[in-house]
Amino acid sequence: MNITARLALKMLARGIRNKFAQLPLSVSFEVTHYCTANCWHCNWGGPVKGESRLQAEDYAAICRELRPAVSHISGGEPLARGDVYEIARAMANPGDLPWMVLVSNAAALTVDKYWKLREAGINQFSISLDFPDERHSEFRRIPGLFEKMDRVIPEITALGNGDLSLNSCITAWNYRDLPAMVELARRWNTSINFSVYSPLRVNDENGLPRPDQLQEVRDCFQRVIDMKKAGFPVYSSERVMWKYYRFFTERGIPGCQAGRRFLVINPDGALTPCAMVWAKYRSQRDMLREFTANNTCESCYISTRANTEKTLADFLADNREMLLERFFKRRRPPGRSATPLTGPDRQPSAQEEPPRKSMAAG
Ligand SMILES: C[S@@+](CC[C@H](N)C(=O)[O-])C[C@H]1O[C@@H](n2cnc3c(N)ncnc32)[C@H](O)[C@@H]1O
Ligand code: SF4
Repeated sequence: MNITARLALKMLARGIRNKFAQLPLSVSFEVTHYCTANCWHCNWGGPVKGESRLQAEDYAAICRELRPAVSHISGGEPLARGDVYEIARAMANPGDLPWMVLVSNAAALTVDKYWKLREAGINQFSISLDFPDERHSEFRRIPGLFEKMDRVIPEITALGNGDLSLNSCITAWNYRDLPAMVELARRWNTSINFSVYSPLRVNDENGLPRPDQLQEVRDCFQRVIDMKKAGFPVYSSERVMWKYYRFFTERGIPGCQAGRRFLVINPDGALTPCAMVWAKYRSQRDMLREFTANNTCESCYISTRANTEKTLADFLADNREMLLERFFKRRRPPGRSATPLTGPDRQPSAQEEPPRKSMAAG
């Protein structure tokens, strides 16, 4: 995250204020559910009949009301909306919050569109990656997608704005490829953030590693953490990586704050607690009362959850390097990750130790 010290401080203050005001830290605006891809792990894909969509100013009004620190423009595929620039422009508050993130499969991304979106107020481009090679195109069912990304992403990162990063959903199909994806991020001169698969979207448990695969998953996670410590551009902190591992071993993480710390706006403006729950609400107040107060779901631990449910101490620890660099202009010790907003390279506390295999078997 290429964020200034002033905005980082504002983000921290907004996060604290919103916590007490029961307002979300992060809001994902799914501006269309139409998608140019049809990924194995996702419920979207192809056209959506008769989709009712708000206009740019309507999304902006919701954004002003909820006052999140971070706004994602997502979908479906947001670049499939011709007015995505107007939406970004209406929601953005140049030089101020919300921090505007475009989440895309990059199939339609060009250097021209990148500049237009940047000019419209997008602060960060979060590009999904599932495999470090042509298998990515197969998984997303877009022929030639990986080849295209291999061309366009380095062109964009070569501009030196530091505002494009990769996001990768860890599944039973790709966990062996995590280190290769980290290497690819470095080759593309960008950083990579990890998230974990939830079976809820497509009702398919096959995307979760089987118990007999967990030792191998753990080894791959350790490899990624070692790479991060060696300076590879991994955004996810060591603590969060082990929490992802715990999600796989225990098949759930309690304490979901969907509707309170994060929520989703549908194309028609209805509120949904997360992308995997179908209940629609007219206001956050209704959602807090009717859903969040009674929510016992543990079936996802996507990066949004991992990042918005952090305690203040976890947030500060995970972003220690970035905060020290921004506020005290402290130089990064040699060997540390060059990625802004990365977590500390500290030894895990007992609590953060990877869960033992016996937990997985249970
Ligand atoms: C739904 S997509 C929308 C934005 C855009 N189309 C894209 O693919 O980046 C947002 C993110 O959700 C992730 N995702 C899709 N299905 C998922 C699942 N079952 N569990 C966790 N994440 C999932 C995708 O990998 C992607 O990074
Ligand atoms: S993950 Fe993104 S690109 Fe893939 S089908 Fe879902 S919305 Fe489309």
